[in-house]
Amino acid sequence: MKVLVTGGTGYIGSHTCVELLNEGYEVVIIDNLVNSQKSVVDKIETIANKKVKFYEDDCCDEEALRKIFKENSDIEAVLHFAGLKAVGESVQMPVKYYENNLGSTLSLIKVMNEFNCKKIVFSSSATVYGDPEELPITENAKVGGTTNPYGTSKYFIERILSDICVADKDFHVVLLRYFNPIGAHASGLIGENPNGIPNNLMPYIIKVAVGELPILNVFGDDYDTPDGTGVRDYIHVVDLAKGHIKALAKGMTKPGVSIYNLGTGQGYSVLDLIKTFERVNNIKVKYQIVERRPGDIASCYADASKAYEELGWKAEKDIEDMCKDAYNFVIKNK
Ligand code: NAD
Ligand code: UD1
Repeated sequence: MKVLVTGGTGYIGSHTCVELLNEGYEVVIIDNLVNSQKSVVDKIETIANKKVKFYEDDCCDEEALRKIFKENSDIEAVLHFAGLKAVGESVQMPVKYYENNLGSTLSLIKVMNEFNCKKIVFSSSATVYGDPEELPITENAKVGGTTNPYGTSKYFIERILSDICVADKDFHVVLLRYFNPIGAHASGLIGENPNGIPNNLMPYIIKVAVGELPILNVFGDDYDTPDGTGVRDYIHVVDLAKGHIKALAKGMTKPGVSIYNLGTGQGYSVLDLIKTFERVNNIKVKYQIVERRPGDIASCYADASKAYEELGWKAEKDIEDMCKDAYNFVIKNK
């Protein structure tokens, strides 16, 4: 089966391409390289020992999409990772975020329809739940309380894809709500190493560990959590990638919208993550407690039982694997 992977050279997309190839799928990638490098294509091929077809194009460009579908008329489904994801930047540049994230999805759906391709797996986020009323978070929890244009773009796209399923009974949509992906492929060939000062915790921990940044700011130790620091559901990116394979294989059997949380179901605090990272990598991470970060919530972790019951998927790697693999990738690519 041939699939189109938008954003396939990015962090989560690249790991998913490897798993797709391992499972025998034929992979076509479209990525405009706005947040990734072309060299990732070779790395995906090296790990999987198989070829992919790569198009350096923008998903907002309908003509480019048409050319891809014409040249690969047997694409049966799309995994839609392409999007901009920096929360802070989205607050500064909302138009850019709505234009790119919504525009790419609308162009994609339009062209998919033209070629009678009606199956899509979308990269959504736990951010659509906002500040959850109950923990762990189930797929039935209230959505829409998003606090930034990035999160709102995810919420809007979920709505758009749901509306399409109402209008067209042949459409199959799987919305995957990711919790906090970290870690890297065990080969150390692909992973995440953002440029500049990272926003997210794990990349920041690593930059401090390797001496690129002096100290980690821990945003608040007065939350209602066991040690006062924020609790999140960190999930290994390879487990997340495998969730997409299950979503394609099983989630696509019925038309309409299916929604799954992809998390471990286990929450870890900021201090848990720092201490585990220090221990498994035998390295110190200097940190200080500072004020809370505006917009942050105390705790966020998934009830991931629906994905297990319906897709037969559950996360297998633990927090130690996540810390080891994330560090291994950065050391190997310094
Ligand atoms: P990433 O930035 O590493 O990958 C996204 C890829 O999409 C990049 O390679 C980028 O070049 C490409 N891209 C962006 N806009 C494009 C466009 N218009 N046309 C073609 N390519 C385009 O991000 P990621 O962490 O791999 O995230 C993948 C998806 O998962 C995103 O939609 C993101 O919002 C979502 N998500 C990520 C996280 C996370 O923590 N990483 C959490 C929840 C959801
Ligand atoms: C952020 C995004 C969310 C996105 C998710 C995964 C915000 C408001 N939300 O969520 O949309 O889906 O990343 O990419 O940005 N922390 C520190 N020091 C740091 C960085 C983080 O203490 O330098 C703490 C945070 O306060 C939080 C935890 O670490 O408690 C995790 O933060 P982060 O990695 O940014 O993820 P989220 O806030 O969960």
